[in-house]
Parts: sequence; C-alpha cells; structure tokens
Amino acid sequence: MPAKISRKKFFKIFAYLLLIPFAYLMNQMVKDHRKFQSANREFRISDPPPGLSISGPVIISRLDNDINIFSSRCTHLGCKINKIENDEIICPCHGSKYDKKGNPTNGPSIKALKKLNFTIDEATQEIVIKLS
Ligand code: FES
Repeated sequence: MPAKISRKKFFKIFAYLLLIPFAYLMNQMVKDHRKFQSANREFRISDPPPGLSISGPVIISRLDNDINIFSSRCTHLGCKINKIENDEIICPCHGSKYDKKGNPTNGPSIKALKKLNFTIDEATQEIVIKLS
C-alpha cells in the first residue's frame, strides 16, 4: 500500500518543484541581459595624449600615428590596471609590467594585454571601442 502524504506536504513539495524551472528561467534572463549589455557597450575617447594613458576601462598606446587600445584588465588574475610609470603599464596587484605594445615584460603575467578593436567616428573624430 502506498504511503499517504498530507495535502499540506503535497503542496509544499509541489511549490518547491515549481521553483526549479522558475530559478532556471530567471538565470537565463539575467544571462541574456548581461550578454545584451556587454554586446552593446562602447567607450569613446577623443584625442588621446601621445604615449601611454589610461582612460576608464582601456589603456591607450599612441605612438606617432599608431594607436593600440588594450583592456585594462591584467591577464594574470584580472585586476584593473591603474598605473603607468616610465613607459610601462603596471598592475597594482602582483606587479606585472607590460610594454607599449601590451606585451608582458615582468611577471607573474605571461600573456599580453587583450587588444581591443576600435573605429573612428567620422563625425566627431572620436575613437569608438566596443567593449565585450
Ligand atoms: S592580477 Fe595583475 S599581476 Fe596579478
């Protein structure tokens, strides 16, 4: 003979079972929203100074007419790089250093900084960087 469960216990179990698909759907919605936001985020810079500079989430390396834009996230453990000294990009967390081309010159990082693609807005002459 099957064990009987009370009506109260049945509805309690039923409510918990409903939470699983609800939590899954909420998780998917949050992921989609984040993906949409990151896909459409852009950052604009106008007339960066010569040499190395940090502007928000990016590092700009302007050497004559050659401009390179890098993510300011350190490739070691992802700290935000906020220091430039003697033409070197320095991570504040564990001291990794990068040259003007974003290549590591001093560990612990062994990977180059992430190079970001950019376009020039013809109307405003701003550098437009897509962040992802
Ligand atoms: S996170 Fe930059 S050196 Fe470790």
